[in-house]
Amino acid sequence: MPQPGNITESRVNDPVTIVIFGASGDLTHRKLIPALYIAYAQGLLPERFTIVGFARRDYDDEIFRGMLADSVKEFSRLPADDRTVADFVRHIRYHKGDISTIGAYEDLRKKFEDVETYPENRLFYLSIIPSLFETAVRFLKQSRLVVAPGGAQWSRVVIEKPFGRDLASARALNGELLRHLDESQIYRIDHYLGKETVQNILSFRFANAIFEPVFNRSYVDHIQITAAETVGMEKGRGGYYDEYGALRDMVTNHLLQLLCLVTMEAPGDLSADSIRNEKVKVLNAMRLDVRQEISDAVCRGQYAAGVDAQGKPVKGYLSEERIDPHSDTESFAAMRLSINNWRWAGVPILVRTGKRMAKKTTEVAVQFKVPPLQLFQQVECEDDVCDIARIKPNTLIFQIQPNEGIFLKVGTKRPGMRFVVEDVKMDFSYSGTWNKSLPEAYERLLLDTLHGDSTLFTRSDEVEAEWKVVQPILDNLAALKPCAYPPNAWGAPEADRLFLGVEGKWRNA
Ligand code: BG6
Repeated sequence: MPQPGNITESRVNDPVTIVIFGASGDLTHRKLIPALYIAYAQGLLPERFTIVGFARRDYDDEIFRGMLADSVKEFSRLPADDRTVADFVRHIRYHKGDISTIGAYEDLRKKFEDVETYPENRLFYLSIIPSLFETAVRFLKQSRLVVAPGGAQWSRVVIEKPFGRDLASARALNGELLRHLDESQIYRIDHYLGKETVQNILSFRFANAIFEPVFNRSYVDHIQITAAETVGMEKGRGGYYDEYGALRDMVTNHLLQLLCLVTMEAPGDLSADSIRNEKVKVLNAMRLDVRQEISDAVCRGQYAAGVDAQGKPVKGYLSEERIDPHSDTESFAAMRLSINNWRWAGVPILVRTGKRMAKKTTEVAVQFKVPPLQLFQQVECEDDVCDIARIKPNTLIFQIQPNEGIFLKVGTKRPGMRFVVEDVKMDFSYSGTWNKSLPEAYERLLLDTLHGDSTLFTRSDEVEAEWKVVQPILDNLAALKPCAYPPNAWGAPEADRLFLGVEGKWRNA
């Protein structure tokens, strides 16, 4: 048995059975099982735990264990040694069944009764198509695999995204789930919240008194958030993606969560509800910043054919595998938002995300106003050749991934005989400060579900507030036809118009 982790990690003590629905899928192999393995190898799982994979494929325990051992070796964040992997997979079992029939759940309960010496705590992880969420939860309840809270054992259900397709369907899904489960049993996962760098936005803002006085409309010119990816529709992604697109896949969850953390008020304490109350408040104050037409505030795009960064030809979105050649789904979305509260009124918020962009990067940049008096000349220098430039504002950058860190751009005197100012970067990087790899989001989030900590999960009113922000876009898709953009670039050039009247432009860095 591995040794318990150090004091900054927290071990789960009570026995638990974890059932993964959709266990033959990519998420199980690449993320969930490697994350559980790391928890096991660090001694953070309880002595008695079982992982049950629930899917339709014709595997048995041995075949399934063998496949997952290979996945751990391939995808684990830390090197996986054969002995620990072999010990770990002994805790895994396979349950073949059809998620859409109650019989499969009753069989599962019988299997539980065989292995459990007494009823255990149970975590059900629904990594299945969203249209089956309600059915799965209903059958879990009917087959008495989940029990109401308040007893000696707990049952919790993790719901993967996307949670609904729009406000109405998210509300309906909440209503259905809450008929069978208590809100405290539902863990709506948004893996961005499990990232170290995302959690650090909160710590950075509220553990340091010096930033708070300037985080408002008097000092901040605008905020921009970019989540760019180089991938297209490889690995069969198209089937899911074409149904959802960038707005539903990335904006309504990951990007709005980043925005909440940067703009919310300080919670009174760190309890799940205090933090989520503040997020809901700021989400309720967010609006699309439409001046005349909705297209002033929103831009959708689809990548065209071209070449990627390695010079390899890539197909356009509409020619990709499993994409409808007449699809209207966007692979790029950009929007301009405002936050109608005293802190942020009038501060433009620019948000964009897309596939097949120039590089994989996620960052939040808070750009401050330029100084009221321009006493110095600003220069921009390259290889010691300098040009006079416009005075640069300070920018605080939360670099979520890769090269994780926080950077502050400030102007300083360039050494020499003249008073000229050049931009430099004051930086904190994770790799330079802590010489160890960062935990994967799923490592943190899975442990949180076992501990019953829902701080980093989305509450029912929060998920509805997210949809309210994007619903005006979904209602006006006909007026927002996607424009083509070249691969290996920064998305649709039309998104530049969102900066109208703003000091600055997209940071294509
Ligand atoms: C997922 C989206 O939630 O996040 C994917 O469904 C996207 O389309 C992925 O590629 C990005 O996650 P990360 O952690 O690589 O930024």
